[in-house]
Amino acid sequence: MKTQLLPPTGEALSRAAALLREGEVVGFPTETVYGLGANALDADAAEKIFQAKGRPGDNPLIVHISSEEELAPLIAGEPCEAARRLMAAYWPGPMTLIFPKSPRVPERVTAGLATVAIRMPAHPVARRLIELAKVPVAAPSANRSGRPSPTTAEDVFEDMNGRIPLILDGGACGVGLESTVIDLTGSAPRVLRPGGITQAQIEAVTQTCEVDPAVLHPLGEGERPRSPGMKYKHYAPRGEVTIFHGPGTVREICNRYDRSEDALILALEGNLSQYGDRRIISLGPDARAMAQNLFGALREADRMGAKVIFCEAVEPTGVGLAVMNRLLRAAAFRVVET
Ligand code: TXA
Ligand code: MG
Repeated sequence: MKTQLLPPTGEALSRAAALLREGEVVGFPTETVYGLGANALDADAAEKIFQAKGRPGDNPLIVHISSEEELAPLIAGEPCEAARRLMAAYWPGPMTLIFPKSPRVPERVTAGLATVAIRMPAHPVARRLIELAKVPVAAPSANRSGRPSPTTAEDVFEDMNGRIPLILDGGACGVGLESTVIDLTGSAPRVLRPGGITQAQIEAVTQTCEVDPAVLHPLGEGERPRSPGMKYKHYAPRGEVTIFHGPGTVREICNRYDRSEDALILALEGNLSQYGDRRIISLGPDARAMAQNLFGALREADRMGAKVIFCEAVEPTGVGLAVMNRLLRAAAFRVVET
């Protein structure tokens, strides 16, 4: 299959929408990361996403909508008070909510769960595409399973060339990490995956909000995650990533770098000068910039042939929680306290 990469003109959007209606898979930009979309009401179309990504069959997909009227047919019952407040505050935007599912959503999409994850993206190309397709769009991140999520159309092409017919090129993604996933089926809203909408932003509208322990800790032997995606090795470049935390970070990274071959450092902008002329990629000035730059830096590390990657930690608060959640998985939870 030949994969086309097109700017999101009216014509390209119409073609992408037609492909979705015909049961095909299309790459498209959102404000978080690029998605790999298919008609969420068509089990065979959803199956093609799993094939293209090499995704484990028990990892459910997020269903994307472009207006609130599209929500009711996808969920069982009415949204709870917390859901209504969160939707009013943060949709469209980088937030996914978990509801009890309606029978209309195929089991293939929810991987057999009784719940469905729903998001209304803010990116104009994503919204226009869903509107034109006139169906809800199931879309995971558009990477091959296990790889860092794509934040540019070129990243999608790198992973999906020959596997899907079309990628809409909307430039670089603004947030850079996937949406915040919030489970609303328990007694209090619970963050299963942190993202661009922070715990403080959630608490500002719902008063309470829990963060699932699996966000920053590996699952114990035989433990079942609430979000199936959390059990897989994720976001990993080919090089081995190690995270450094604490006051001796720069010294320890320099020591190890000098004893390694093909090493690469990922550091905050403010620390760059302390690493001398060692090979380094800047992650920007703060946690928000780190979120935007992290996946691109991990992919760049592969292109540079880095065998070992030493990365500075960031405080796990605000967007920093989402950064550390992804970084810990990319590093298979290897952290050095300095
Ligand atoms: O920002 C995003 O959310 C991007 C863009 C494309 O919208 N999408 C994305 O999808 O990150 P994906 O498939 O890479 O991640 C979806 C996560 C997985 O960890 C999955 O296990 C979880 O959401 N998930 C989906 N449905 C769920 C459900 N019913 N219950 C619990 N977790 C669910
Ligand atoms: Mg993903």
